[in-house]
Amino acid sequence: MTFASQRTRLMVANWKMHKTLAETRQYFHELSTRLSTMMDERASKDVEVVVCPPFTALSAYRTTALEELSHPFALGAQTMHARSEGAFTGEISAPMLIEHGVTYVIIGHSERRQYAGESDASVSEKTVQALRHQLVPIVCLGETADDRAADQTKAVLSRQLAPVLQAVKTVAEETPPFVIAYEPVWAIGSGQAATPEDASAVATFIRETVADALGQSYASRLRILYGGSVNADNIASFVNAPNIDGALVGGASLDVNQWLTMIERARRRGDEQ
Ligand code: PGA
Repeated sequence: MTFASQRTRLMVANWKMHKTLAETRQYFHELSTRLSTMMDERASKDVEVVVCPPFTALSAYRTTALEELSHPFALGAQTMHARSEGAFTGEISAPMLIEHGVTYVIIGHSERRQYAGESDASVSEKTVQALRHQLVPIVCLGETADDRAADQTKAVLSRQLAPVLQAVKTVAEETPPFVIAYEPVWAIGSGQAATPEDASAVATFIRETVADALGQSYASRLRILYGGSVNADNIASFVNAPNIDGALVGGASLDVNQWLTMIERARRRGDEQ
């Protein structure tokens, strides 16, 4: 089942803990300038670009050149808190992100689950909080190498997804669809990407699970990304695989030239490669 639809492809750069404010300004300037030429009206319907810098560099989006043009890419954050304000030292809330021009937020990245104790329950709370503030959550799911070896991939994804779907049900009618990133933990930063066939089979399973919980029409609008060692050489094979609508990219997004090449390749449909 592919749920044929006109979903705009989505390319998300996750910089993790990289780049100072000055480096971000330079990158944003370069990206804006070159995307403005590359993204004619048709191209911007084909692919949407999001960059997620660290919190300390978010302000660069509003202050970096090209203010006279609308930004040809969107700004995302790498995480947020589930409450709007309160005594939560070190945390950042949805309204604070919105102030900087953020429209997307990564939720439940495996590094947050591993190093910051994020649970399936907190991921679902944050997802709903983001949606209530009209931020688009990019919810990350993925199995570890051990899960995979034990043939537990679907069981793990179902466990991670169930509370999110339960929570999204309460707001689905009045909010835009969220985004799911399938990121096998063993593929992140390892140089060992999943095969496009395997990633596509998992994306299909995810879309079917979403359809069961939220209905076919919601599921056909939902964008599913693949993430884990995506680069300029393999991006085309992922975005052209059924049910994959784009990529969440770490390491390969840090170099602006490489990122632009990936965007250009992601924008072409299979018949134009
Ligand atoms: P990677 O990271 O592209 O460096 O493998 C992807 C991610 O963690 O989002």
